[in-house]
Amino acid sequence: MSIKFKNVSYIYNPGSPLEAVGLDDLSFELEEGKFIALVGHTGSGKSTLMQHFNALLKPSSGEIEIAGYKITPETSNKGLKGLRQKVSLVFQFPEAQLFESTVLRDIEYGPKNFGFSDEEAEKVARKWLEKVGLKADVAEKSPFDLSGGQMRRVAIAGVMAYEPDIICLDEPAAGLDPQGRIEMMELFKQYQAEGHTVILVTHNMDDVADYADDVLVMEHGQLIKHDVPREVFKDRDWLFKHHLSEPHSSLFADKLGKAGFVIKQPLTINELADEIAARLKGVPHE
Ligand SMILES: Nc1ncnc2c1ncn2[C@@H]1O[C@H](COP(=O)(O)OP(=O)(O)O)[C@@H](O)[C@H]1O
Ligand SMILES: [Mg+2]
Repeated sequence: MSIKFKNVSYIYNPGSPLEAVGLDDLSFELEEGKFIALVGHTGSGKSTLMQHFNALLKPSSGEIEIAGYKITPETSNKGLKGLRQKVSLVFQFPEAQLFESTVLRDIEYGPKNFGFSDEEAEKVARKWLEKVGLKADVAEKSPFDLSGGQMRRVAIAGVMAYEPDIICLDEPAAGLDPQGRIEMMELFKQYQAEGHTVILVTHNMDDVADYADDVLVMEHGQLIKHDVPREVFKDRDWLFKHHLSEPHSSLFADKLGKAGFVIKQPLTINELADEIAARLKGVPHE
């Protein structure tokens, strides 16, 4: 199955002095089961686009096909609960939405909302508590007694626990320490490996290089590029022109080149290391 956007535009506050273009004529198709990165500057339309994936916002014009649903400006809210179970959004700083008295109850909330029995909800909550890397003994604690990073895992577990086919996350690793960030990214990679689609809004180009199959680049509400990471990062002049940053592997290789040690442009840190190691073979070292 695929996700299709056909000439989708979204206008905020149409006809009022506050009218603003959120999305401007987007057409693209994504294959389900992929890891998709959504990048672009603040105000480029990433969050607006994300809210179209489960019809929290409906297009002002155009048409969307996702998870077996068709969404147009006329689509009514009735009957969208099934879509919301299949396609879930995790907003920035989701830990701010925790509210239950215990961690377990917070994770059970989503599954119960989608009709899981009490027993089934508890079972999946305990399973996902562990899968997001928390210890079983935090289950009965208040979520407010946890660290910020742990609270964020609880919030994400609460969505993964009902296993949406497609999970869209807005900067889920923002503010985490480097180790926390890697663990978070590995969690999404694992979720994808289990057969789900992951759509990730991020400013971190290293994460895009390391994890994404596909990249959507937004600017002023328009989709200005849709390609695999290697192609997106290959054209350094284009990135510079659009004020987009590059993965550290590219920057490092560029500095090496300027110092007279030209290597093939690597996508990831691993490729960079392999390339240098290959070139150093035969060079005496300790
Ligand atoms: N609630 C809103 N009301 C009016 N305009 C909005 C609203 N939310 C976003 N916008 C505008 O829509 C455009 C896209 O914003 P957004 O999707 O939030 O971008 P991003 O997530 O990439 O930072 C911006 O011009 C922004 O000012
Ligand atoms: Mg945003």
